[in-house]
Amino acid sequence: MDNQLRKSASDVIASVPAITLAAFCETEGLMAVLRASAADRRMSRASCIVESGGIAAAVAAYRETRTPSVLIVETAHGASDILAALKPLADVCDPSTLVVVVGHLNDVVLYRELIRSGVAEYLATPLTQLQVIDAVAGLFRDPASQPVGRIIAFIGAKGGVGSSTLAHNLSWLFANQAKVNTVVTDLDLSFGTSGLNFNQDVTSGLADAVSQFDRLDSVFLDRLLTRCGDNLSLLAGAAQLEREVLLNEDTITAVLDTLRQSAPVVAVDMPSSWSTWSRHTLINADDVVITATPDLASMRNARNIAELLRASRQNDVPPFLVLNQVGIPKRPEISAADFSKAVGIEPSVMIPFDPMNFGQSATTGTMLCEMAPKSKAVEEMKSLFASMNSRLRSAPPQRPVAQKSILNRLKSVISAGKN
Ligand SMILES: Nc1ncnc2c1ncn2[C@@H]1O[C@H](COP(=O)(O)OP(=O)(O)O)[C@@H](O)[C@H]1O
Ligand SMILES: [Mg+2]
Repeated sequence: MDNQLRKSASDVIASVPAITLAAFCETEGLMAVLRASAADRRMSRASCIVESGGIAAAVAAYRETRTPSVLIVETAHGASDILAALKPLADVCDPSTLVVVVGHLNDVVLYRELIRSGVAEYLATPLTQLQVIDAVAGLFRDPASQPVGRIIAFIGAKGGVGSSTLAHNLSWLFANQAKVNTVVTDLDLSFGTSGLNFNQDVTSGLADAVSQFDRLDSVFLDRLLTRCGDNLSLLAGAAQLEREVLLNEDTITAVLDTLRQSAPVVAVDMPSSWSTWSRHTLINADDVVITATPDLASMRNARNIAELLRASRQNDVPPFLVLNQVGIPKRPEISAADFSKAVGIEPSVMIPFDPMNFGQSATTGTMLCEMAPKSKAVEEMKSLFASMNSRLRSAPPQRPVAQKSILNRLKSVISAGKN
């Protein structure tokens, strides 16, 4: 049973598509879990209602109106009478509705029997919010699709703190050390530095992808990528100032969702300017890395970003905080202890100010990790890479998309039982 898998905040759980979902619970506990799940970022496209009353309330609610895409019902019935209890529901249920039954018994025989009867999924309590979201997302998962890649958003607390440099080096490490297919998406279409840092003439791949976002698929997107070596590609703008490209929540979601179908790591190099789409991208990333320098403006902005993420990502791991350009000679700076107290996150790593190595790497278009592998800065980057890599797990096992109609299947199972 899927809900036997422990879902943790660091697992990649796909977002639920724009469906309608109604849940009818018998217990306060499940109601609270479902309401909290409905508020999770991964359910933001679904429209959900959570009510009490169990199967009887669901039957009453849908006598006259059509049932939603997903109907969750909680029942305390035991294995012997659960099918009979579901019968009135089958009578009102639209054939296309996927019914998820939540019961209080962890029983494989019951599970199989319900699935055979056309129930899309059976979940046993107690359930966590993430288990619920994963189960609902699982109903719409295409069994042929690739595992879901992890979206890692890199944002600087202000411009020039080294966020892009970090994003590119971490991506290089994913590609060259973890040997996983990695795509760097440079969302700074006009002034992005990814092409320069990877010493590549980038095409206007991102601009092309965005302008045709409604016909994106992995094959089309693959043609727009600039290859930067084994396992590493780049999707960027060509820093053309005259071409206007409309980045918004829909276009970015389409691009990133398509990229993550084929790449286990999608590193998003965010511009430091703030907009509705950058906020959306950050909130919906699987991991966020905030890079800051030890000064007051960086600290205030990092604290604001961390607070925003805390409020909107309650089921997610906290962001990684990187203190960069630490120890500039003669420059007074905020201590790591004061910085982390203000932001509410311990820095994962502290990268020293190293103008020699960073300067040489930037001017020659060579990754620092490749150019100065023994430097302290690279040592710190590798330590961040190790913590991020440990979160990279394979996606949960795929299960078939439920296509059965509870209406017909349940009726036939019940009538067969009577004969
Ligand atoms: N630790 C460091 N020491 C010295 N220079 C650095 C360091 N980190 C970044 N830089 C330099 O700072 C500049 C800005 O970096 P960049 O990654 O473009 O910042 P951001 O993306 O945050 O605007 C680059 O020239 C980069 O080489
Ligand atoms: Mg940048």
